[in-house]
Amino acid sequence: MTDLVRTTLEGGVLTLTLNRADKKNALSKAMYGALVQGMVRAEEEAGIRAVLFQAEGDMFTSGNDIADFTEVAMGKVQPENVAASPFLQCLASSTKPYVAAVQGNAVGVGTTMLLHCDMVIVAEDAKLTVPFVNLALVPEAASTMLLPMRIGYARAYKMFALGEPVSGKEAAEIGIATEAVPASQVRARAMDYAKKLASRPAGALKLTKQLMRDPGLIKHVMEREGVAFKERLRSPEALEAFRAFAERRAPDFTKVA
Ligand code: COA
Repeated sequence: MTDLVRTTLEGGVLTLTLNRADKKNALSKAMYGALVQGMVRAEEEAGIRAVLFQAEGDMFTSGNDIADFTEVAMGKVQPENVAASPFLQCLASSTKPYVAAVQGNAVGVGTTMLLHCDMVIVAEDAKLTVPFVNLALVPEAASTMLLPMRIGYARAYKMFALGEPVSGKEAAEIGIATEAVPASQVRARAMDYAKKLASRPAGALKLTKQLMRDPGLIKHVMEREGVAFKERLRSPEALEAFRAFAERRAPDFTKVA
């Protein structure tokens, strides 16, 4: 059991805290595993009435651990074994209310996972980015459907294609987040909402979530994205992007076939 995700249960709220601040909460295989374990537990235990994601340190998460992507790009690990997939599938099929408390950067899956949360509280100065294309990848987590549904094609395309950040304030205005508050208040506000949700009739909340989402469609889009994502992970372009990150330099895609 990793201590890189802390799990606490209080007042019907299961809190999953990312605890790898020195690596900006980059999500490793062990962390995805612990998150899945927490989410499965939330489905199974009637006493858990809401789930809250939060993170230690100055940012929510810098996304998937790039070292794990590099292993796939180098052929050491099969793309089928990318640990984000079970996490996202589990999140997409969850029936309990999910809340997220987001400070600092939320990169890649750090932003796309928010599209599967029911209430997202962001710091006004948070930075949400989906730089998949900059890494020579494609978006995942059904975000190619869910993000345009939330904010329209034009804004979603710009976020995906340019990988530029959207602030927490803007994220709340355009509908990615529920509410933007000063960074110092993010956690408390998110917990307030989680507790409120825990006090509501669980059966009605479950059905409301079910009616508002279409898990079958989301699964279909995730499968489509998954095919392209796996292909991209093994591309020379992606390997160049991952190496450039490790070597702290800008990627040079012009020399890649
Ligand atoms: N995977 C693996 N390690 C990561 C990481 C990631 N996604 N994000 C950060 N880290 C590591 C860095 O390598 C560094 O490790 P080191 O101290 O051993 O050198 C440490 O975390 C701190 O990161 P650093 O880049 O120095 O912090 P920063 O505040 O200057 O920048 C980010 C923060 C998030 C902007 C930057 O780390 C970044 O761009 N990370 C990659 C994000 C990304 O592309 N994720 C994948 C999306 S699909």
